[in-house]
Amino acid sequence: MKRFLFLVLIGGIFSCGKSELAMDHVSNSSNQPKETYEWLAANVFLPSCVGCHEPGASNGVDLTSREGLLDSDVVTFYDLGRSSLYQSVATGKMPKKASKLSAEKIAAIADWILAGAP
Ligand code: HEC
Repeated sequence: MKRFLFLVLIGGIFSCGKSELAMDHVSNSSNQPKETYEWLAANVFLPSCVGCHEPGASNGVDLTSREGLLDSDVVTFYDLGRSSLYQSVATGKMPKKASKLSAEKIAAIADWILAGAP
């Protein structure tokens, strides 16, 4: 009897572990860590911004690389109020001529700036 309980317990732990792993995998594939330039580039800048914000763009904002973005003077580390990158999407001014970004994407930009723009 003891032995049976032991097996049930082990089985339970094992299957819980497995489903957690599976869930991790699902959430990771659609949601890479958001506080990185790479996540923003793939999920926000590439689909919504770089058409108008490539290197040398007349508007002076390059969103095609982290360096270009930081050189464009639109991010003040840890300060959303002084980061026009955040202000422009939070107010819906950007993306120009398109609908406002989703709350999730705006929050991801905020988190990135508040994390020191890694
Ligand atoms: C259709 C072209 C276009 C698209 C798409 C676009 N922008 Fe802009 N952006 C501009 C222009 C033009 C300016 C220059 C200022 C202006 O005309 O409003 C600008 C200016 C900016 C500025 C400078 C600060 C400011 O508010 O003027 C930031 C930051 C910015 N854009 C971020 C973005 C982000 C982030 C996206 C994508 C979510 C985006 N833009 C999409 C055309 C665009």
